[in-house]
Amino acid sequence: MKKIGLLSVGAYLPEEKLTNTDLEKMIDTTDEWITTRTGIQERRIAKNMLCSDLATRAAQDCLSGFHTHPKLIISSTSTNEYRFPYQASTVANRLGLIGIPAFDLNAACSGLIYSMAVAHSMMMTGNITTALVTAGERMSYFVDYQDRTSCILFGDGASALLLSSDHPEHEILTIELGTDATGSDCIIMGGPEQDFYFRQAGKQVFKFAVQKMGELIDSLKKKIGWKAGERFFILPHQANKRMMESVAKDKGIPLENFVINIEKYGNTSSASIGLALKEAWEKNLFQKGDYLFLIGFGGGLSWGAAAIRW
Ligand code: COA
Repeated sequence: MKKIGLLSVGAYLPEEKLTNTDLEKMIDTTDEWITTRTGIQERRIAKNMLCSDLATRAAQDCLSGFHTHPKLIISSTSTNEYRFPYQASTVANRLGLIGIPAFDLNAACSGLIYSMAVAHSMMMTGNITTALVTAGERMSYFVDYQDRTSCILFGDGASALLLSSDHPEHEILTIELGTDATGSDCIIMGGPEQDFYFRQAGKQVFKFAVQKMGELIDSLKKKIGWKAGERFFILPHQANKRMMESVAKDKGIPLENFVINIEKYGNTSSASIGLALKEAWEKNLFQKGDYLFLIGFGGGLSWGAAAIRW
């Protein structure tokens, strides 16, 4: 069977920071509340950039140094500035990737994993050897900065992955997707009138995320035949540090096995797993043979998990 690997990861973060101290001046909150309840200290805000600008920069970062011309581009986003042109078309145009299939995919915060899964299966069944997946989100456009329960959580950013069957060394072993659609209205954003700004059933989402992350870790381990003692890292969607601490405790997994960078960027929706992956890769955290478990969850209520062998 064809093997498909992760050849490169790219990232882009806008320069402007919104710190907890800044938020203290805007709403009735404290740095201490935000830090203890979420682990977030600051986030990035794209002031003069569009969502597709962020995705384009991440894609450029991902492709830099590679003389490759992807044969497919999928852009995960819930926050593009237009419906048309859809984001993948804008990104492809700017990168000069003309004539290839390009489309957007919205699965909220699980969108990167969903996009990986679609790219992976198109590569498996077709003649596509290289695919670019971007995840660009400008959450700040949809956040009500008077709502202290949600505006503290989000930031803007983008990541991108390059998948290749010519370079299968960081092989994608398995991908699992799902949606508990009974929770479809637990997270709402971008609708008409009062449904425009982000809002959620915070406690319900928290419970769902912790339970689902735990289940997905067990399920991935089983599917890949993980054996006790083998090294693994979890790259979870960065929604709340307390969620990762709960999963670590429930599953008896050391917190050091979780790649966490939420303190700097907050929740960047579908971009967050790629941002964490980029940072960990640059720090040489992974050794040959390690397993990486990428775990997304969010609106839908959706989930997606991928296992990669380093
Ligand atoms: N600053 C200070 N106080 C705040 C606050 C803020 N920014 N936001 C809420 N509060 C208050 C509440 O008003 C409440 O006060 P009360 O007890 O007087 O009513 C109190 O803090 C506790 O609020 P609660 O909503 O119970 O907090 P929580 O511990 O559930 O934490 C979230 C709230 C949003 C951080 C948490 O529920 C969460 O992370 N949920 C999942 C969110 C998520 O990740 N969604 C996206 C998934 S992709």
